[in-house]
Amino acid sequence: MQNNRKIRWGIIGTGRIAHTFAEALSGCEEAELYAVASRTAQKAADFAEKFGFLKSYGSYAELAQDENIDVVYIATPMSSHCHDAKLCLAHDKNVLCEKSVTLNLHQLEELLELAKMKNLFFMEAMWMKCRPAYRKAMEWLKAGRIGQVRYIKADFSNFVPFDANDRLFRADCGGGALLDLAVYPLTLIYDVLASPDSIISNANIQNGIDWSNHILLRYPDGVFASVDSGFEIPLRNNAVISGTDGMILFGDWFLCTRDVTLYDRAGTETESCHFENRINGYEYEIEEVHHCLKNNLKESTLIPYQSTAGVMKIMDECRKQWGLSFPEES
Ligand SMILES: NC(=O)c1ccc[n+]([C@@H]2O[C@H](COP(=O)([O-])OP(=O)(O)OC[C@H]3O[C@@H](n4cnc5c(N)ncnc54)[C@H](OP(=O)(O)O)[C@@H]3O)[C@@H](O)[C@H]2O)c1
Repeated sequence: MQNNRKIRWGIIGTGRIAHTFAEALSGCEEAELYAVASRTAQKAADFAEKFGFLKSYGSYAELAQDENIDVVYIATPMSSHCHDAKLCLAHDKNVLCEKSVTLNLHQLEELLELAKMKNLFFMEAMWMKCRPAYRKAMEWLKAGRIGQVRYIKADFSNFVPFDANDRLFRADCGGGALLDLAVYPLTLIYDVLASPDSIISNANIQNGIDWSNHILLRYPDGVFASVDSGFEIPLRNNAVISGTDGMILFGDWFLCTRDVTLYDRAGTETESCHFENRINGYEYEIEEVHHCLKNNLKESTLIPYQSTAGVMKIMDECRKQWGLSFPEES
């Protein structure tokens, strides 16, 4: 890719996150809002007009075939990610795919194989990992500021009113709290502690999806991590990484956090960082994609395949323990 031209983006799906992402894209100088696709031509046209995309398509396949697109952002429900990403990779498009990247590890492995075979860029849109506050915490950890990590507690739970049509509550869309919410705290935990030795988990399952889940991960030497997530009750939604010499706290809504604080062993605050979004917080993952494409990287160092796959493996194990599979898997 020439370093001096804008990167032409295509978006597949015109739902909630596609709007937020397009807003961020509009503020990124290196991005060209090139094309958007919906299953409904009028929706695509409206979306294109709202954000200033050059082209709109009434099917995902048409967008995938457009030879001018550099990278496609996939913003469809989890159950569609594998199909939509395959479609784009098959037509030689680089892909940024929303979380959870697929329904299960097997689907992810298929995508990674295809991306590698085609020599294309592929990344899960795990925006949290690209944010300055998150990166600051990783910097503190690497520098040994809290000593050896002994425990991580990370939650993500809100009250979400039931809507039978919302993908969150639909098994056929890959709904449920695990793939929608727990994926964030699990990603943080995997980043710090990698694969656990054992997992104990439970979930409240109704109508084929988990409304809430509780996951305890055990690591060597008595190190533990735990996650609570769900749609039924609000929690503080913070994350704490505790070590032998102190702790790191992400405040409320840790996944969107602008604040990260370091404490010493006595619990005294020693450093605190606040980062304002330049746009809406999604600009950082967009910039990471631009960085990779301009440098001909097929895999992001911030969101490597190994970590995406490691988290997916944990989520597969949880669902196995709950006896929960999606219609598409049977
Ligand atoms: N990064 C984040 O912060 C964040 C936040 C929310 C969601 N997400 C992820 O983004 C993805 C989309 O979430 P969302 O909340 O934007 O969902 P949404 O509002 O339901 O939008 C999903 C879009 O996907 C398309 N679609 C394709 N097949 C569909 C089907 N069978 N049922 C419903 N829609 C279908 C539709 O677009 P067309 O009608 O235009 O084809 C729909 O508007 C999910 O993977 C989710 O986990 C990420």
